[in-house]
Amino acid sequence: MPRIILMGPPGSGKGTQGDLLAKSWQIPRISPGDIFRAEIKSNSPLGQQVVAFSNAGKLVPDRVVIGVIRDRLTQPDVQAGWILDGFPRTIPQAEALDQMLTDLNQAYDRVINLEVPDQILIDRLLNRAKESGRADDTAEVIEQRLQEYHAKTKPLLDFYGAKVVQIDGTKTVEEVTAQILAGFSPV
Ligand code: AP5
Repeated sequence: MPRIILMGPPGSGKGTQGDLLAKSWQIPRISPGDIFRAEIKSNSPLGQQVVAFSNAGKLVPDRVVIGVIRDRLTQPDVQAGWILDGFPRTIPQAEALDQMLTDLNQAYDRVINLEVPDQILIDRLLNRAKESGRADDTAEVIEQRLQEYHAKTKPLLDFYGAKVVQIDGTKTVEEVTAQILAGFSPV
């Protein structure tokens, strides 16, 4: 079963594609963004810790995110495969993931990067804001999320180097899925 790191800027389609692939392969999609939103909604201690970062479009501190992912990757349902959607997003997170996988005697199969220009991302997220109710889908916060992406996450493309499979994320959802699946053996 695949172990996939799904990368890309805000609005590039990580959640959309991650969901489709996870259902098709019947493996969990692990999204720190989703985990944080659920914790914020239930007003848990973790939710209280991350709400200001998430709502402002700033990355949650590495120490917190790494702890959440480390816990999640040791649970039984992820032993056969997983899709990491939105983790890692910084070099220290990527280094921590390498260590976690070594400790678990696991390895990732592929790093997939969804490429979409900023203006299309902004249009998609402003459009989603009409219905999503997400606190971070406002023009001001979208700009902050993009700044965080360019400053802290994009450098990961160099970290992973030749392991990154670049995908044109501007195509239709179905075409993007087909690009991702190309090269995978049927599972
Ligand atoms: P997170 O929830 O991960 O948000 P994000 O990265 O900003 O990504 P989105 O969920 O907005 O977009 P997406 O790429 O998943 O695209 P989607 O499929 O939804 O993170 C939220 C926050 O949590 C962060 O800001 C941070 O505070 C914190 N956080 C999370 N991970 C962290 C980490 N590792 N470290 C620190 N902090 C972290 O699609 C977007 C829209 O486009 C949808 O409306 C969709 O329908 C549409 N769409 C999708 N694909 C297409 C297509 N091919 N064509 C047209 N429209 C499309």
